[in-house]
Amino acid sequence: MSSPTARYPVCKVEDLKSEGRIITTVKGVEVGIFSVGDRYYAWRNMCPHGAAPVCEGVVCGTRLPSLVYEYKYGREQEILRCPWHGWEFDLTTGRHLVDQDVKLRGYPVEVAEGQLYLVM
Ligand code: FES
Repeated sequence: MSSPTARYPVCKVEDLKSEGRIITTVKGVEVGIFSVGDRYYAWRNMCPHGAAPVCEGVVCGTRLPSLVYEYKYGREQEILRCPWHGWEFDLTTGRHLVDQDVKLRGYPVEVAEGQLYLVM
């Protein structure tokens, strides 16, 4: 039987926008809160590869599919790179960029009157 979910206030939208990311602890779980454009995402701060604090990694873009000798870069600020071994995750889905079966654990985020809430 799973425990009931509740909504926990984690930060103000404006604080997240100015800080870039916020790492906080809710119900004993460390979670990184990110904004990508006008959307918000929460990922458990534990890499599925080796349990690194993945949410402390660099937020960046990635190489896009392109022709031989053509190197296109894009998706700036949508990719999270793990600080230990460089695995890269899509911040909007939590999925590893290469192995779609590997995924960060995520939580729903709700917004009300400038306040972000985590649902756990
Ligand atoms: S612990 Fe994250 S890539 Fe190895």
